Amino acid sequence: MDRPPYLHRSRFPTRTKLLALWTFIFLALFLFLFPRSSSDPTRRLLQAGPVWENRIRLSARSHSHSRRVLVTGAAGFVGLHVSLALKRRGDGVLGIDNFNSYYESSLKRSRAALLDRAEVFVVEGDVNDGTLLKKLFELVKFTHVMHLAAQAGVRYAMQNPSSYVQSNIAGLVSVLEVCKSANPQPAIVWASSSSVYGLNSQVPFSEKDRTDQPASLYAATKKAGEEIAHTYNHIYGLSITGLRFFTVYGPWGRPDMAYFFFTQDILKGKTIKVFEGADQKSVARDFTYIEDIVKGCLGALDTAERSTGSGGKKRKAQLRVFNLGNTSPVAVNELVNILEKLLDKKARRMVFPMPRNGDVPFTHANITLAQKELGYKPTTNLETGLKEFVNWYRLYYSKSGMNIVL
Ligand SMILES: NC(=O)c1ccc[n+]([C@@H]2O[C@H](COP(=O)([O-])OP(=O)(O)OC[C@H]3O[C@@H](n4cnc5c(N)ncnc54)[C@H](O)[C@@H]3O)[C@@H](O)[C@H]2O)c1
Repeated sequence: MDRPPYLHRSRFPTRTKLLALWTFIFLALFLFLFPRSSSDPTRRLLQAGPVWENRIRLSARSHSHSRRVLVTGAAGFVGLHVSLALKRRGDGVLGIDNFNSYYESSLKRSRAALLDRAEVFVVEGDVNDGTLLKKLFELVKFTHVMHLAAQAGVRYAMQNPSSYVQSNIAGLVSVLEVCKSANPQPAIVWASSSSVYGLNSQVPFSEKDRTDQPASLYAATKKAGEEIAHTYNHIYGLSITGLRFFTVYGPWGRPDMAYFFFTQDILKGKTIKVFEGADQKSVARDFTYIEDIVKGCLGALDTAERSTGSGGKKRKAQLRVFNLGNTSPVAVNELVNILEKLLDKKARRMVFPMPRNGDVPFTHANITLAQKELGYKPTTNLETGLKEFVNWYRLYYSKSGMNIVL
């Protein structure tokens, strides 16, 4: 008997449908077994299976002090080093980062790969994603949050101001919101910046100095962060420590920072712009080596008291701000001299007056308070630290250098 015509017609589409069904099953299985993290909520739902949850629990499992630390911005420069140091001493560490493309995201991926080898998992997601943060807190009872995620850089604010508001203000509030509701509440240490001193002319910069004259939107968002921290401490009993970092540099650093792109440009024979301030004074920075900053961050975590607002029982909680600098500002011209020596190549310098686009002429930290309360004591001078950076830079950007370990 002949088949009715519609059945003839449906033979091919049925096979196609079957093929599509098997492809779907295969893809679903693949995603279940090998979850790829992503900040896209739909894809994140797909990845949020038991394997993903297990990776999170394993990464955050503590081996010594029973500290479990959520590090935001973990694929960033400071985040990488802090996460490695915490893991090395036995703390449980989980990272989160949105891997944005402000600078080469391949560098962030390489940092995350390095963390992965050290058994630190970096969840790909945005700190503004409250549902994701809540999920992470359901999976792990974090004792501490090291909040480093931010839109960094001073000049980029003129191109993309909303990214600063989004990451540095909304993102901070989102993190504090989840911390406030967590039980137990974690203690929070977060990165403010020396830029809050803005046009302050009192040197060296002390935590007691005024910070109400920011020279850039970046600085204004960090200053706003300090005020927001006060509010969450006051109302919800969160223990919060702000760290004002002074120009951090070192291996795995940020390509948008002068020491990094000067190195790139000197090696390529490109002209570099060196800014000078008013009265032909060279611009100077209190360059601080990454390992010194890491010690300061760990000191802040170790001396952080517990938050007091869990379950609504509020006592006064700790609220602190510290300068983390090196206390020896170096003129940018001197930075270039050191790089020339280390790279064995003359720089082609062009001197320009410093434009009014957010930078300040000098920074200089008074670190007495951090010394007293955190045991912070920087030990690396600029020449020694830059040597480490240049060694890393050569290795990383050589073809074989992509798999190097610190
Ligand atoms: N490096 C310095 O000299 C310096 C100086 C002062 C303050 N700081 C502060 O220290 C912290 C770390 O700085 P860094 O030099 O490592 O910068 P970085 O840009 O290398 O690291 C920040 C990381 O946060 C991530 N991030 C940004 N917005 C995010 C969001 N909304 N959600 C999730 N992840 C997000 C980025 O992808 C990046 O990997 C920042 O808060 C920065 O403002 C740094």
